Amino acid sequence: MTKKMTITSIKKSKGVSKLVMITAYDALFARLLEPSCDIILVGDSLNMSFAGRADTLSATLEQMIYHTNAVAQGAKNSFLICDMPFGTYTNSEEALKNSIKVFQETPVDALKIEGGADKAHIIAHLCSNGIAVCGHIGLLPQAVRSEGGYKVKGKSQEEQEQLIRDAKALEKAGVFCMVIEGVKADVAKEVAKSVNVPVIGIGAGRDVDGQVLVFSDMLGLFEEFTPKFVKKYMDGAALVKSAIRSYSDEVRTLKFPQDIHTY
Ligand code: KIV
Repeated sequence: MTKKMTITSIKKSKGVSKLVMITAYDALFARLLEPSCDIILVGDSLNMSFAGRADTLSATLEQMIYHTNAVAQGAKNSFLICDMPFGTYTNSEEALKNSIKVFQETPVDALKIEGGADKAHIIAHLCSNGIAVCGHIGLLPQAVRSEGGYKVKGKSQEEQEQLIRDAKALEKAGVFCMVIEGVKADVAKEVAKSVNVPVIGIGAGRDVDGQVLVFSDMLGLFEEFTPKFVKKYMDGAALVKSAIRSYSDEVRTLKFPQDIHTY
């Protein structure tokens, strides 16, 4: 069993080894994912992948708490991060109240908050009150409705400079690491170089301090759409469908159950 990471070991990994982060939404998968990953993220992407909604915005704090507790049961040896859902950190006091609720009702190690320099004062308030925060900059899934879609960031000089400002503001606010999503690889590289905390990429190239993927995307289980940055390590949907087809055929043709499955 590998040693569970801590805020300190995560920070120290910068420039030494790449961090492996993956999402999980339940104990069953958390148990399977844990042995090969450093950090498990209970992402609000569960609202799409698990709950079948079109985006992450309707995920609630209660749902995130429920799933975090489920994941924690399956991944007792993983550094666990929970996404703060849309609308739960609009100002410092609300953010602290909601963060304390998650910390008190789950064994989570840290929370993730979307936003850059505009959210730095809120993140600083959480950090100074004992909440460990992972930032999230670049493409922000919770901004999908206000931005009219998922927009890759860092295409213009202005956006590149803003990303560096965002990363620096989050570092100053006290985050121990940050996710950078949907950003041109050369820009993400500069962002990672501009701060001393690990920058974990998703759709941000390889020159960052680690990678995160949504487990149901990389296992090929989520069929609605596949972003360009996802590598499918297996065709999970085809495997599941084929297994269920075999089960169904065998029930109908009386091949299942056999004597070995019978008391
Ligand atoms: O919700 C999520 O799964 C995330 C990842 C995309 C980083 O925030």
